[in-house]
Amino acid sequence: MGHPVVAVAIVFVSAAIAMAASSQYSHHPLDPLTATEITAIRAAVLASPLVPARPLFFHYVGLDEPDKPDVLSYAYGAADAAATSSQMTLPRRAFVIARAGGQSHEFTVDIAADNASVLSHAVHRGPGFPMFTDEDQIAAMALPYTYPPFVESVRRRGLDVGEVGCGVLSRGWFGAEQPAYGGARVAKMKCVVVDYNATANIYARPVEGVVMVVDLDRMAIIGYRDRAVFMVPKAEGTDYRADKVGPPFTGPAAPPGVVVQPDGRGFHVHGHLVKWANWEFHVGFDMRAGTVISLASVNDTDAGGLKRRVLYRGFVSEIFVPYMDPEEEWYFHTFTDAGEYGLGALASQLQRGADCPANAVYMDGYYAGSDGKPVKAEDVICLFERYAGDVAWRHTNGIGLGGLFSEVRPDVTLVVRMVVTVGNYDYTLDSEFKTVGSIKIVVSLSGILDMKAINYTHVDQIREDTHGTLITENTIGVYHDHFVTYHLDLDIDGTRNSFIKNNIVPKRNTGVRATGGAPTPRRSYWTVLYEVAETEAEGQVNINSAPADLLFVNPSKKTKIGNEVGYRLIPTGATATSLLADDDYPERRASYTKKQVWVTPYNKSEKWTSGLYAEQSTGDDNLAAWSKRNRSIKDEDIVLWYTVGLHHVPYQEDFPVMPTISGALEVRPSNFFERNPLIRTKPPENSPNCSCSIGGSA
Ligand SMILES: *[C@@H]1O[C@H](CO)[C@@H](O)[C@H](O)[C@H]1NC(C)=O
Ligand SMILES: *[C@@H]1O[C@H](CO)[C@@H](O)[C@H](O)[C@H]1NC(C)=O
Ligand SMILES: *[C@@H]1O[C@H](CO)[C@@H](O)[C@H](O)[C@H]1NC(C)=O
Ligand SMILES: *[C@@H]1O[C@H](CO)[C@@H](O)[C@H](O)[C@H]1NC(C)=O
Ligand SMILES: *[C@@H]1O[C@H](CO)[C@@H](O)[C@H](O)[C@H]1NC(C)=O
Ligand SMILES: *[C@@H]1O[C@H](CO)[C@@H](O)[C@H](O)[C@H]1NC(C)=O
Ligand SMILES: *[C@@H]1O[C@H](CO)[C@@H](O)[C@H](O)[C@H]1NC(C)=O
Repeated sequence: MGHPVVAVAIVFVSAAIAMAASSQYSHHPLDPLTATEITAIRAAVLASPLVPARPLFFHYVGLDEPDKPDVLSYAYGAADAAATSSQMTLPRRAFVIARAGGQSHEFTVDIAADNASVLSHAVHRGPGFPMFTDEDQIAAMALPYTYPPFVESVRRRGLDVGEVGCGVLSRGWFGAEQPAYGGARVAKMKCVVVDYNATANIYARPVEGVVMVVDLDRMAIIGYRDRAVFMVPKAEGTDYRADKVGPPFTGPAAPPGVVVQPDGRGFHVHGHLVKWANWEFHVGFDMRAGTVISLASVNDTDAGGLKRRVLYRGFVSEIFVPYMDPEEEWYFHTFTDAGEYGLGALASQLQRGADCPANAVYMDGYYAGSDGKPVKAEDVICLFERYAGDVAWRHTNGIGLGGLFSEVRPDVTLVVRMVVTVGNYDYTLDSEFKTVGSIKIVVSLSGILDMKAINYTHVDQIREDTHGTLITENTIGVYHDHFVTYHLDLDIDGTRNSFIKNNIVPKRNTGVRATGGAPTPRRSYWTVLYEVAETEAEGQVNINSAPADLLFVNPSKKTKIGNEVGYRLIPTGATATSLLADDDYPERRASYTKKQVWVTPYNKSEKWTSGLYAEQSTGDDNLAAWSKRNRSIKDEDIVLWYTVGLHHVPYQEDFPVMPTISGALEVRPSNFFERNPLIRTKPPENSPNCSCSIGGSA
């Protein structure tokens, strides 16, 4: 997160259009809110006498999903759930956070009936604020142009006020060491030179040294400081638009434009339910979380086609991005992107054939604008089958006469993708389903560095700690972290699971043999020590501290030969944890970033790892605070929280736009199936030869 400077394009859809679309399938209880429903929710909240104060602004409107036992009963029948009726009608409710009269109001709205109605209302009394709205930011962006001290600062820098644009930055939380402004909802603003004729890269040209404080409820600038003048970096060489960088163009041509699927797509989408190969799951949308994957189950064809549960609900709970520059204009850069800006609200329209391949299908999302009216987020989710030339399993046999043969099965996967552009950064967020039974969650970072202007043009001139890398003349790419925290409510073959650490420990060979064999010259080996986590304190793991396989198992389900059925966690790169001091304010807000793995008992209201009110949160309502209760997690309905973490030291190649870098977590069956579930996969038939000419010389 840096400067969300660019005005957000907002498309309002009429309820009539949305209704026509929604009548094509019957609702699943986890379906995201439709435009019609959002319109009805708005009407109900505005009609409610409980909050007479006006104006009233909507900050969050999302599905308040039915209770888990009821959803399980709906999806899988009553076997593993509390309710018993197969004809059950589940409540359809929304949860709303609105601001009015200087307070944050929470509403639960019933939308099951023809007419929505408010079921409950509460005022949030604790610390923190709801997400910014698009309108908060757009209105604030207009303020500096008529604020005389700012106009003067811009003039001092030899610029015209019409050449600059300012963005709203959350100010974090720094206790009593930061002005309270009487508890007002305040943010900071910083500015850049905006001249799209000169460059699209507005982040490369900061107006350094100037910071404003804005009261977002009063919509007024209430604090201002122009500390020092720095050179504005030049525009040349900063652009990344194709028509500005070329021709000539270099490198290989664009990716193959054609994906051959002679038998058509291998997956089916019914409303929000997806079926592909041995997988079935539900894809939802939320303005804060972005994509929500629910009710993922895998078909065990070796067990007579049994549908076996893997994931109840999975989504990105927070993206925490602290910058490592403690100076005046930068210390507060400690963003919680989901809770402050909203991942769904900032999801980008996917570019066909570039963000997703030619064989992708797309889904829209709807969220509420600050006036409560539905906003369509078009083509923000894509699904596609991926074959990238990888092998699912293989073997070449070479022993014995006539024994030379190979068996190979290609690895085809299904990807669910969203790209979230939070100001300068772009996060590609994938859930990749594999036929082996794995779900791989992948975070890929691209976009533009948050840059600081400085007077230096060469590394040799630098005498002090600049808190970043000189990446081009007059420009520092500031050191920072990205912590992407997932809420993964795994339900391995049922609701009650345990968290297991298979600790991998080195051993000395003592020569003592239970089986009576002769002593051997081996000095050492490693073995596995099985450990069940009893309480939350034991569910917190820094995976870099000691080697261990971490598993979610179902202790009441065993394979035929007696192993507990389970799924293990396979982190792939990006396992950084926070290096901030425990008593530093941003660390108190995001104290869960000291460990990648946390396991908590399921609790419907514990969704947002930085708290429901993450904006200026104080850490009193975060994952670490909940976990202090040290609840039992053994043979319970438990949730995995996993943080993909990167320390980002910028390098020159990250400029003017960063090539993608990724981190991932795969959850993979481990004694879940009786054997390799792909053993009966058919080998590929006469795969057509590529008819492409070589080197584009045709
Ligand atoms: C829904 O509620 C509104 C406001 O209370 C009312 O004007 C309208 O007639 C109601 N519609 C139905 C179908 O009940
Ligand atoms: C950008 O270019 C357009 C078209 O040439 C011109 O109308 C506009 O004034 C230019 N803007 C700036 C800020 O120079
Ligand atoms: C940076 O350079 C500008 C232009 O030469 C000068 O006005 C300014 O004082 C310098 N700033 C610092 C902090 O040295
Ligand atoms: C599982 O897959 C098999 C083979 O494709 C199919 O016959 C069966 O109906 C599937 N089971 C479920 C529960 O979908
Ligand atoms: C669920 O979590 C909330 C927030 O942490 C807490 O107030 C509530 O007591 C929890 N409920 C249970 C049953 O633990
Ligand atoms: C958590 O509970 C367990 C079992 O009661 C206890 O042994 C452990 O000390 C507790 N840990 C913390 C941090 O409270
Ligand atoms: C592909 O190329 C191989 C080797 O040249 C050839 O034997 C085979 O018939 C070709 N297959 C198709 C489907 O064209």
